[in-house]
Amino acid sequence: MKKIVLFGAGQFGAMISRLIGTGYAISCFADNYEGKWGTTLAGIPVVSPKESMLFDPDCFCICVMDEERAGQMETQIRKLGFNGPILRPDALRTFDARVATMRLLAEQIQEEKIPGDVAELGVFRGDFAVLINAAFPDRTIHLFDTFEGFPPKDVEIEQEQGFSGAKAGDFAETAKDIVAKRLPCPEQAVFHKGYFPATFRSCMEKTFAFVSVDADLYAPTAAALPLFWDRLSTGGAMLIHDVNSTQYTGAGKAVREFCTEKGLLPMPVCDLHGSVVLRKP
Ligand SMILES: C[S@@+](CC[C@H](N)C(=O)[O-])C[C@H]1O[C@@H](n2cnc3c(N)ncnc32)[C@H](O)[C@@H]1O
Repeated sequence: MKKIVLFGAGQFGAMISRLIGTGYAISCFADNYEGKWGTTLAGIPVVSPKESMLFDPDCFCICVMDEERAGQMETQIRKLGFNGPILRPDALRTFDARVATMRLLAEQIQEEKIPGDVAELGVFRGDFAVLINAAFPDRTIHLFDTFEGFPPKDVEIEQEQGFSGAKAGDFAETAKDIVAKRLPCPEQAVFHKGYFPATFRSCMEKTFAFVSVDADLYAPTAAALPLFWDRLSTGGAMLIHDVNSTQYTGAGKAVREFCTEKGLLPMPVCDLHGSVVLRKP
């Protein structure tokens, strides 16, 4: 078994530690931020890059997605005298566990003829909505977003509670028309532009088979969970982004509160952003 050091003790590092397959034994995380040294991440010790060399690793894995930073970290490892292989998880840009999960759920929902529309809360420029629309070409897709970025009142809660560093207007560089033009089946789309949950009013009588919740913040996630769950068909699924995120912690708090109240256990997805699935029994 090869001894591997994961360089970068952040959100990506944590998920990469879970994706590492048989054949590797993780010795530790290395990180340049002194405040993390001596702590653990996903049960693995975090040490300085210099100290990680004491584990006599067979290889390193760079756990950041930013190309420039990854290059700098690689140079740093070489300067520490490591001559072995340095892995870059580039495949994670190509293969995405969240997308695969959505497609598998879609295949099953279609095959089992589970009734209902599909929806996404938090659309931004439509990267994920395009894929949902393609996976459910015969179903109405409801798209909820301000299309003006994070609402100030939700961001206030984030700041008061210390959930994230979100700013009002983050993700504002979009528009309904930009998304509409990208959809493969635009005739199926119903746009609900504005503040969620106010925009849900017209959906009170709807039934859903699949819902993606990707609003990042506590308030819209907490509002969305009961509204969609109560209208989800038996066998329907909700895929919620950022639940195990270290960047946006409010979404996870909202999901944990909701699941405790309903007696549910979310199924984790090993994507880079800590998504979970809630399935309606
Ligand atoms: C991370 S982005 C969504 C990314 C998108 N799902 C994708 O795959 O590219 C989060 C979105 O949530 C929206 N959002 C957050 N809170 C909202 C609220 N209360 N009402 C409506 N939209 C909200 C933001 O405007 C932003 O576009």
